[in-house]
Amino acid sequence: MTHQGRKLHLEPLTEADLELVWEAEKRAYSHPWSLGNFRDALKANYPSYLLVAQPQPSDTSRRTSTGHILLGYWIAMLGVEEAHLLNIAVLPEHRRQGWAVWMLESLAAWAGAQQAQWIWLEVRASNQAAQQLYRQFGFAPVGNRKAYYPAGQGHREDAVVMSLNLKLRAVQCQQPIGVANERTEHESTK
Ligand SMILES: CC(C)(COP(=O)(O)OP(=O)(O)OC[C@H]1O[C@@H](n2cnc3c(N)ncnc32)[C@H](O)[C@@H]1OP(=O)(O)O)[C@@H](O)C(=O)NCCC(=O)NCCS
Repeated sequence: MTHQGRKLHLEPLTEADLELVWEAEKRAYSHPWSLGNFRDALKANYPSYLLVAQPQPSDTSRRTSTGHILLGYWIAMLGVEEAHLLNIAVLPEHRRQGWAVWMLESLAAWAGAQQAQWIWLEVRASNQAAQQLYRQFGFAPVGNRKAYYPAGQGHREDAVVMSLNLKLRAVQCQQPIGVANERTEHESTK
């Protein structure tokens, strides 16, 4: 697929790219997963995908084992009729270009293909960027988990639990163009 003039695709995370992803993780988060967390996800066969692009002449960053540029990644797990998003990140230099939305689309397509009806996730209460992304995608906040995340200096931070009803989303995506336009116009008057 081509997006923003770049050819990109998802490829499964393998052992060969674990260190590269961990380096990305440390740049993406204040409290990153450990290398062991990524290894465990692979061992558990959790669906783990890299969003990669063909390198451009200006790209100087380290290549993946398949010779691509790493833009981001997502890792999920499957439950009974639901998927749980465990990690999603876009490298800082590639943000605000729609890559996270693109990855959420791929997650929703994967989850739908597994007969999941819901996607669940937790997000730090302070992570307004991610919450805005999820809300824009159709997730709704459904609760809080107190002191869920480490926050440094012995403190903890709450998680906001969010869910996406995949069936509802599929119906909304199938609305005739006229109806979708009406909604956009209505929302833009708020
Ligand atoms: C959150 C994150 C994945 C977003 O990735 P991204 O590729 O920049 O997001 P997109 O370009 O697809 O943005 C889609 C929408 O999300 C919202 N959004 C994304 N970043 C935002 C920010 N910094 N502030 C406010 N809204 C933001 C906007 O509504 C945006 O649409 P717009 O660009 O048209 O305004 C990225 O910032 C990241 O990797 N953060 C660190 C890791 C993280 O927090 N992961 C989530 C853990 S729960």
